[in-house]
Order: sequence, then structure tokens, then C-alpha cells
Amino acid sequence: MVDYQEILNSIYAKLQKRVDKGKVASYIPELANVPKEKFGIYLNRIKGENYCVGDWEEPFSIQSISKVLSFALAFSKLKNQVFRRLDVEPSGNPFNHLSLLEMENGIPRNPFINSGAIVIADMLLSMLDDPKNDFLAFVQGITNDPTIQFNKTVAASEAETGYGNYAAANLLKSFGNLENDVDRVLDFYFHQCSIEMNCKQLSNAFYLFANRGKCMQHTTHLSINQVKRINAIMLTCGFYDEAGEFAFEVGLPGKSGVGGGIVALLPNEFVLSCWSPGLNEKGNSYLGMLALEEFTTQTNLSIF
Ligand code: DON
Repeated sequence: MVDYQEILNSIYAKLQKRVDKGKVASYIPELANVPKEKFGIYLNRIKGENYCVGDWEEPFSIQSISKVLSFALAFSKLKNQVFRRLDVEPSGNPFNHLSLLEMENGIPRNPFINSGAIVIADMLLSMLDDPKNDFLAFVQGITNDPTIQFNKTVAASEAETGYGNYAAANLLKSFGNLENDVDRVLDFYFHQCSIEMNCKQLSNAFYLFANRGKCMQHTTHLSINQVKRINAIMLTCGFYDEAGEFAFEVGLPGKSGVGGGIVALLPNEFVLSCWSPGLNEKGNSYLGMLALEEFTTQTNLSIF
């Protein structure tokens, strides 16, 4: 029998001691003040007990992790039509990179780089009656947690300094790949990124991707084929220009955010969330990457 609690405790104890914990994101001013010492892990096992360690109950900004949830909602409603406006190839570039978008005529490489998520935000805006509230209700529903909310201060902070995202949205608009006004699309996008969750809520939110499209309450939101595709995009594109490294070290589909969260999953087995706000130079949680590598190495559990 694997002693999951012992494994999480030992990973936590070992990594918590590290002096180098990466750099907290400061380009969204509101995120700059989060203490670097925070570190939590939550393991939700599909057919077994759950385990946790550290600051797993403390909410953080999920940021780009929200892109998987917005893509899941758009994909569930529009089916393969979503791929008329974006691709599913890794970009090999940072999340906010723009030159490929221009060279490829406004078709983002994938839904998890900023430009791709902005196109998805545009689709949701066109499709939902009350876009921000309906999206939040979807996230609350799959997580079975009505307490999950936007952080409006974080959304406003990003709106004030999000010049790169305005550039991306304007470029998309100039290529005819946005239906709605740039300001409305970005208001939705900044809000989705500002959603706060703790490690437990994040593991619960991603449960359906490890459980063939059924969330914790057994409601089906996605087909098995859609889940296969979403997990494939997480594996190949979830960590931007570090996606190869993540597959190599961790061997799981997953997604990171500049708030320092990482969620990764093994289909039919578990969802594992880590939070440590210090980032590496690729914008992914420094300790989070190490924690996930330790976990899959110690347990011999990965998709490979
Ligand atoms: O658009 C941005 O730059 C942020 N709201 C999200 C970026 C992010 O989380 C990248 N992930 N590691």
C-alpha cells in the first residue's frame, strides 16, 4: 500500500526548506504581495481517500488555470466548431507571445496561451446570456462549491496593466477573430483569471477531467472523447514553453497559472493540486513543478 500522506509530508518538508523559491509574479500588481512561503498540496483520488499538506485551505488566484475551464465550457457547447478559430499545437513560446499570432493570421496555436483563451472568452461572451455569472456558475457547479468567486480587485489590477493582452485582443480583432468588443472580451478574460480557489477546490474542479467527464456529483459535463482532447491539450500546451519539460519530469496532463497554482491529473486515478507563488523563469510555480516531479517519481504513477 502506498502511504500517500507520508509521501506528501516528505515532499512538503523537503521543498519547504529550499531557500530559492522562485519569483512571485509582479506584472499584475495585486499578485505581487502574496507571501512566497505559502505552499500547499491536495490530492483527490478518484476511487479512494484524499490527502493534503501545508496551506491547502488558503485561496489563491488561479489565473491561467481558468483557461482549461473556459475551454471546457466552450467545447461542451460548440463541439468541434471551436477549432475553426484556434489550433491545438504547442506554441513553444511564452504564454503572452504575439509574433506567431501575426504570422499565423490571427489563429492562436492553442486555447491555453493568452490569445487562444481570449478567443474562447469571445465565444463564451457571444453564447452566454449573462457571461461572467454563467461562467462562474459553471465553475461552481463542476466543483460543487458555491463559495468560489472572482476577485474583482485582481481583475481590475490586471485591466490596468494588461497592455500585452490588449495588444493580443486588438491583433485578433484586426484579423476578424473576435466577434465582440475588445474591452468586453478582456473584461470577461480578466475576471475568469481572477477566480480564487484553494488546492482542494482546484482538485475538485478538475475531477471531471480525471473521471471521464463526470464531476464529483456524477453529473456528465463532457464526453469521454472531449476529455481525451482536453487532457491532450493540457499535456502538450499546459505549460507553454515548458510543456516538454513538464511531460518529461512529471508525465501528466496539467495546467499552471501565474498565481503559483499547478493542477495535474492521472485519468481514473487522481487529481493533484499544488500552490507555491514563486515562479520559475517560464512563469510556472517553481516548487510546484518540483513537488509534482517528486510525487510521480516516488509513486511511479504517470500516464507513461
Ligand atoms: O493574461 C495573463 O497574463 C494572466 N491573467 C494569466 C497568465 C498566466 O497565468 C500564465 N500562466 N502561467
